[in-house]
Amino acid sequence: MTTLRPTTRPLTIPRRSEWRTEIVDAPPEPAPVFDYDVAIVGLGYVGLPTALAFHHAGARVLALDSSAARRATIQAQTPDISDADHARLSHALGDDSFRLTGDSTLLRSAAAVVVCVPTPVDHHLIPDLAILRSACATVVAHATEGQLFMLTSTSYVGCTNDLLLAPLRARGFTIGTDVFVAFSAERIDPGSSGFAQEDVTRVMGGATLQCEEEADKLLRRYAADVHRVSSLAAAEMTKLLENTFRAVNIALANEFADICRALDVSVTDVIDAASTKPYGFMPFYPGPGVGGHCIPCDPHYLLWQLREQRIDAPVITQAMTQIAGRPTHVVDRVQTVLSERGIGIAGARILVVGVSYKADVEDLRESPALEILASLTARGAAVGYLDPHFASVTLATGQIVDGLIDPVSFSPDLVLVHTRHTAEDLSWLEPGQLIVDATYRSADLPERVLL
Ligand SMILES: NC(=O)c1ccc[n+]([C@@H]2O[C@H](COP(=O)([O-])OP(=O)(O)OC[C@H]3O[C@@H](n4cnc5c(N)ncnc54)[C@H](O)[C@@H]3O)[C@@H](O)[C@H]2O)c1
Repeated sequence: MTTLRPTTRPLTIPRRSEWRTEIVDAPPEPAPVFDYDVAIVGLGYVGLPTALAFHHAGARVLALDSSAARRATIQAQTPDISDADHARLSHALGDDSFRLTGDSTLLRSAAAVVVCVPTPVDHHLIPDLAILRSACATVVAHATEGQLFMLTSTSYVGCTNDLLLAPLRARGFTIGTDVFVAFSAERIDPGSSGFAQEDVTRVMGGATLQCEEEADKLLRRYAADVHRVSSLAAAEMTKLLENTFRAVNIALANEFADICRALDVSVTDVIDAASTKPYGFMPFYPGPGVGGHCIPCDPHYLLWQLREQRIDAPVITQAMTQIAGRPTHVVDRVQTVLSERGIGIAGARILVVGVSYKADVEDLRESPALEILASLTARGAAVGYLDPHFASVTLATGQIVDGLIDPVSFSPDLVLVHTRHTAEDLSWLEPGQLIVDATYRSADLPERVLL
């Protein structure tokens, strides 16, 4: 590195035009010393496994969550994570190189800061960026030279620029020299043991080539492979394509299921058969709707952004409208099935099996079951549910529904199978019980009718 300085020390301060300069070698800047290799901001379904994966790979990890309740759950080793992550957590909590904290001032002691906070939508399906904005503002406020900042929360295209790059520049940092910025969405599949986090390639875009290099080094600490794209925006858009692809295909599967029922064809037979084609087909399955923090939310970040630019996206819009309306479709179908047996929905007793949004996760976020329970109640039904993961659930109306202890004494007129956890025991079902199968895959319940 070189620097410019006056050749003589002036006794009186000369005018700038009188300065002569020469180039001299400056001593190399010492590399900043950090106490932690990486800080993870937000220790939820994604952030906690990520922090544990880094620690397992030998990194010194600062694990930051602003929620005292969440930190207490982690400290008590009771979060909803895989068995493998539980083993890692138990090891990490007893290790000096893993620090669980709520103190954001410590962020300046980490070489890299990974932001992993929620990006939900509100009741009007409008992106709610408040949490992400606040987390990024904190990160920028504590930024120090030499740090790498990586956004991993799913968001709109340009978000990394708006919430990290521009504010860091405004603080006087030169991106790619003083600090480094990248985007790399998480692809973790909570509750699924089929794909270890480490084995899934990370897609990453950097603000500059040097940012890319730094981010690549960080991700390769635990990820088997990193796929670099040409820009931050391309990396952001890749995540939106992945989840929009799923949303559109689930909407198509739902539509096919309705068509197949009308034509008296088994939709699961058809999907299984089509899946034998080794190219050009990927199976998606119909269901009662979608939940979790990705598919019901992420495409709305794209649609929201497109609306501002007056860009129409009719296929995505239609898919998201159908997905959002699916719980109402389930309730309509339940009402029809009951009335075909001469039972009115008002006063009917309906038991919902499984309320989490997918099997084997303790996650109610955006679960269609909540809307279904509320809507059945609004139509006058008496509702109950079975789910070993939840003692009670609170509906959007504020109503609290307690989980059933004894399904038989509830004497349901109709059982709606919403989610089948692996350990769910349905042996209590009596022959002749009216069952609507919203999973389409409960073939072991021969008397079921399909959604
Ligand atoms: N859950 C999934 O299936 C999944 C999969 C891939 C990607 N993602 C994306 O990952 C991101 C995180 O999702 P999640 O499911 O882990 O969220 P989550 O709700 O499970 O957890 C987020 C955590 O962040 C904490 N937090 C919020 N604001 C904070 C702040 N300012 N500082 C520190 N901690 C803060 C919360 O207390 C919470 O513990 C989202 O953008 C989501 O779209 C989620």
